[in-house]
Amino acid sequence: MLRVIFFAVAVSAAFAQLSSTREPAQQDEFLTGGAEEYRKVIKGDLRQDPAEFITYIEEAADKKPLSYWHDIPLYFDEAERVYNMIVEIPRGEAIKTLLNISEEMSPITVSMLPNSHQPALENVDYIHDFGKLPQTYSSASVEDQLAKLKGNGYPLDVVEISDRTHEIGDIVPVKILGVLGVASNDIVDYKLIAFDIRSAAADQINSLADIEAHYPDLLAATRGYFRFYQFPQQVNDMLFNGEYQDASVAENLINEKNNEWKQLLESDSPPAELNTVSQQSFAHFQPDQSKWQQILA
Ligand SMILES: *[C@@H]1O[C@H](CO)[C@@H](O)[C@H](O)[C@H]1NC(C)=O
Repeated sequence: MLRVIFFAVAVSAAFAQLSSTREPAQQDEFLTGGAEEYRKVIKGDLRQDPAEFITYIEEAADKKPLSYWHDIPLYFDEAERVYNMIVEIPRGEAIKTLLNISEEMSPITVSMLPNSHQPALENVDYIHDFGKLPQTYSSASVEDQLAKLKGNGYPLDVVEISDRTHEIGDIVPVKILGVLGVASNDIVDYKLIAFDIRSAAADQINSLADIEAHYPDLLAATRGYFRFYQFPQQVNDMLFNGEYQDASVAENLINEKNNEWKQLLESDSPPAELNTVSQQSFAHFQPDQSKWQQILA
């Protein structure tokens, strides 16, 4: 009940100007990323049997299996500063479908409640498409330059705030407009603010100020979401007095976390809970190609 009413007021104002253009389901479909094209490989049914639900990614042309985290390029178009976002949780969902960074190929799986056949749910449904930037890593043992805080040991989080809604596992070309500093217990978990370049409004949305002008209060609702989405168990801290940092700050952060990811992949002794097997030639751990192909078959 709480979850229904809590954000209804804050968010309805922000979304009044957004048309809802939910795209048709794209099971086993494509998605572009720079010169490459990818195809999702979805196994299991999210609603019927969440424990068995799993989504992998492969190259469409030659069906080469890839790691979502390590082998989808960070950039869709580096010169234009367009990034690839991996969608984990679509807008309106509470089921936590996340990159499983402990597993080979970092597929998307459902976080399950312990000793249960039930999925773990967020207390508040997501108000945006939520996901990760591939080829980034916020090390839990390194203080970042921006907040001087250690990371959470995951790739960078990103929220896509355009009027488009995506499917689990989609790879979406986005521009990054800013970043919100979210923290708990002095561990920082930045939320990058992204906009799908294919949205009809994309040409007009190039800064935080543009977002505020076109979608008044949407940034405030987004901040409220990340402050309270784990309420009542947890209320998160907001760094920088809750002020969003602009695109240039976000870009520096992404570069820093892309470098941390490179070091992680080169390491012969990464943290035990992380799987760093990758198709990247510089990666210390290389895949067994036939094993990966069998998993996708
Ligand atoms: C990752 O996948 C493994 C194997 O499917 C599963 O046991 C584990 O619970 C998953 N981790 C998360 C955080 O969902």
